[in-house]
Amino acid sequence: MRKKISIVGAGNVGSTAAHWIMAKELADVVLVDVVEGVPQGKALDLSQAQPIERSDVHVQGANDYAVTADSDIVIITAGIPRKPGMSRDDLLNTNYKIMKDVIEKVVAYSPECFLIIVSNPLDAMAQEAFKLSGFNRQRVIGMAGVLDAGRFKSFVAQELNVSVENMSAFVLGGHGDTMVPLTRFCTVGGIPVTELIAPDRLEQIVQRTRDGGAEIVKHLKTGSAYYAPSAAAVEMAEAILKDKKKLLPCAAYLEGEYGISGYFVGVPCKLGSGGIEQIVEVRLTPEEHAALKKSAAAVKELCDVIGV
Ligand SMILES: NC(=O)c1ccc[n+]([C@@H]2O[C@H](COP(=O)([O-])OP(=O)(O)OC[C@H]3O[C@@H](n4cnc5c(N)ncnc54)[C@H](O)[C@@H]3O)[C@@H](O)[C@H]2O)c1
Repeated sequence: MRKKISIVGAGNVGSTAAHWIMAKELADVVLVDVVEGVPQGKALDLSQAQPIERSDVHVQGANDYAVTADSDIVIITAGIPRKPGMSRDDLLNTNYKIMKDVIEKVVAYSPECFLIIVSNPLDAMAQEAFKLSGFNRQRVIGMAGVLDAGRFKSFVAQELNVSVENMSAFVLGGHGDTMVPLTRFCTVGGIPVTELIAPDRLEQIVQRTRDGGAEIVKHLKTGSAYYAPSAAAVEMAEAILKDKKKLLPCAAYLEGEYGISGYFVGVPCKLGSGGIEQIVEVRLTPEEHAALKKSAAAVKELCDVIGV
């Protein structure tokens, strides 16, 4: 039996995630959206690429959740994206209502699934999904860190003109202005990046990483990034489906780790067939710890607004 991934929200991130999953032949895919015709049309288009891509998974689109029944993983991308001048937090009130509607239906049809949350503001949406689903914390995972680390790695690789395959990095904290890229844990072919790039230049790259989403929104004008975000969500899904035990930065519900309790914050997680199988705690400097706490406080503020 092939595995099954449902994607709620057949917009830019959702349909591109479906594309990556189909191209990797990772699982059967169901695209769901409120707009009639869009998930069906995109699924049909993707299925016609399958003979060319040599992929035999089943791709379908629907407006009804019945076809999502018994999904192994549900990736939630439903919601409005940012426009120029907007912060992720500006999306809170609209996406809160959408997430509520989506989670109820997803859980009714796939009570055993893993949830990968993508909709923004990410950490608050993950918290809402966790609270409304009643799932344990191993099964509700927010996607942000893989994308943010991907941005950081791509900028460093470009700076040094080296292969992206040489890059290893992670970022901590919330998905927003308070994210904490950890330069001392970034390596290039095993060499700490701090040995290769001067501190002031590295700080510029860190700042560009923090602003990475906004930079793309400014170019696109009508929406936000989707190729890298969808690739990041699919990397997480693949780690779970293939039980890869991969260490990835994910938004996870903390219960005392890093001195934080009761909120989703980006931390290094081991993803395998059990979902979040371990939250890895690394020793932080006082500055890094303060930045992580600040990040958690920003998440708390949003969660308080929507009461989750
Ligand atoms: N976590 C991250 O790092 C990250 C990165 C990129 C985008 N995002 C977020 O992901 C979300 C989607 O972005 P996008 O660019 O794909 O937007 P998009 O507008 O292209 O797609 C969103 C889709 O959601 C659908 N939708 C709205 N309400 C729905 C509902 N109740 N049920 C089902 N579908 C519904 C819309 O019809 C639309 O097709 C946004 O909130 C965006 O901010 C997060």
